[in-house]
Amino acid sequence: MASFDLSGKRALVTGGSRGIGRAIAVGLARAGADVAVTSRSADRCEEAASEIRALGRASHGIGCDVAKGEDVVRLFEELAKRDFGPLDSVVTCAGTAGMQPSLMLERQDMQLMLDVHVHGSFDVARRAALQMQGRGGSIVFCSSVWGIGSQRMAAAYGAAKAAICSLTRTLAVEWAPLKIRVNAVAPGLIETDMTAPLLDDPGMRDKMLKSVPLRRAGSPDEIAGAAVFLCSSAASYVTGHTLVIDGGVRAR
Ligand SMILES: NC(=O)c1ccc[n+]([C@@H]2O[C@H](COP(=O)([O-])OP(=O)(O)OC[C@H]3O[C@@H](n4cnc5c(N)ncnc54)[C@H](OP(=O)(O)O)[C@@H]3O)[C@@H](O)[C@H]2O)c1
Repeated sequence: MASFDLSGKRALVTGGSRGIGRAIAVGLARAGADVAVTSRSADRCEEAASEIRALGRASHGIGCDVAKGEDVVRLFEELAKRDFGPLDSVVTCAGTAGMQPSLMLERQDMQLMLDVHVHGSFDVARRAALQMQGRGGSIVFCSSVWGIGSQRMAAAYGAAKAAICSLTRTLAVEWAPLKIRVNAVAPGLIETDMTAPLLDDPGMRDKMLKSVPLRRAGSPDEIAGAAVFLCSSAASYVTGHTLVIDGGVRAR
């Protein structure tokens, strides 16, 4: 298991205060990494950081809205002030979803999705890559099966997640000479606050789970294992890949 060991490594997880990001932050810490956690709520990030410190790893919780460029600048200044760097891994999970008929979709709805998912992920990855270049590092983006296939009422979210898959391939090729690997996870239906409005409705839950070969929703921990793998040297020859984790939906 030595190749999965992240001891002595430093990781940053955006959207790490809850849901998939939190499970990944804790998973990276369990694998030995020190982990900084960020999301808009500094208090919730600090809660996640305490959970990580209880595992014996260093951790910082820092508030940052990744949709705002100036916040991302401040995040990296704050990490430097706390002497948390250079980073070895970054996982970008900050995300928001919204479903509405495309005919009702206004320009600002699309813009919000692009700001959070595309600009937010790219900004954080680029600033981390400036620290990683030459030393090596791993970046893991969070896409979605809705960015690979399609989903009615999710045109903006799906477009943003498809852009993440494209960034994954392009940056993997461009940053390979810098020894930076770039991959993504593409979760299917995972039980979090984001999917609660769908999964808490028994009729809707039933309908959605019927399309999943494993006949259940995934848990955030089932994404964490993949992120630990992609950040570790066990994945040292894996780059430009989007790993689908969806209970078999895309295999149909
Ligand atoms: N759940 C699923 O089925 C599923 C499937 C495919 C992909 N995903 C993707 O997985 C990622 C995590 O989703 P989740 O299900 O864990 O959702 P979640 O439980 O709602 O968590 C979302 C996380 O992102 C943070 N966040 C939201 N907007 C932000 C912003 N502008 N700046 C910084 N942080 C922000 C939230 O914290 P604050 O509110 O404190 O900012 C929270 O930590 C997202 O990218 C999502 O699109 C989820």
